[in-house]
Amino acid sequence: MVKEAHDVKVAVIGGSGLYHLEHLEVIEEVNPETPWGFPSDKIIISRLPSGDKIAFLARHGRGHYLSPTEVPVQANIAALKSLGVEAILAFSAVGSLREEIPPCDFVLPDQLIDRTKGLRPSTYFGNGLVAHAGFADPFHKGIADLVYKHRDAMKDYTLHRDKTAVCMEGPAFSTRAESHMYRSWGADIINMSALPESKLAREAEIAYQMVCMSTDYDCWRVEEEAVTVETVMQNMKTNSLNAKALLEAVLPDLVQAVDEDTLEPKLKGSMKFAGMTAKE
Ligand code: ADE
Repeated sequence: MVKEAHDVKVAVIGGSGLYHLEHLEVIEEVNPETPWGFPSDKIIISRLPSGDKIAFLARHGRGHYLSPTEVPVQANIAALKSLGVEAILAFSAVGSLREEIPPCDFVLPDQLIDRTKGLRPSTYFGNGLVAHAGFADPFHKGIADLVYKHRDAMKDYTLHRDKTAVCMEGPAFSTRAESHMYRSWGADIINMSALPESKLAREAEIAYQMVCMSTDYDCWRVEEEAVTVETVMQNMKTNSLNAKALLEAVLPDLVQAVDEDTLEPKLKGSMKFAGMTAKE
């Protein structure tokens, strides 16, 4: 893949409701073609007040025209990698499976259960090149620590950490039986986007942390109406404002940590231990 002449080390992936970062000065829009095709939308490169550049990509496209199953995740991660990205903060709307995570609270998950249905290409390997990336801890503790430090930016809402996410296929939401089952498995939140994004970022040696924005209580709560698109849309507006406030606080620190190479664990070079082999 041709590395583009950009020095952008940090990227934000925006999920449902987060399609732009209006408060930043836009420098340019790029649309890198990768061996896996084009990303979901143009990648917006902006400048922080510190002068550092960051990249922003709307996962579902600006205007939301790609369902979770349709997102070209291989191209998205490869396109960000081609710009030089080493750390990703990925936002995603989620349903809450716990009373203590009401709508509009945010969550930094540290674990993940895969309930996608095999419809999404989820690796860069195969076709003669074999590797097994370590994925025991699918999210990045160093980035989570840094985001958590700025939790006061959330003002009236709570930022939870170290929770377990389920990623389901969708596009329809879960049945009540499924929702109860996920709770019995110990899951705290549910979305449709954590996979394969987190896995492909790991294969690309990019530090990746998801920031989950609760929009609803899914359908497990007997006293609650089952999740509807209307509830989700209303809460998404509040979440988008909170995500921007959190980003304003976090991004300067994250860019500095990546620049100074202080983020732990280090992902660069990790695929050396993935037993990569190819046909002789
Ligand atoms: N995204 C937002 N709410 C969700 C839910 N209840 N289930 C799956 N994905 C979601």
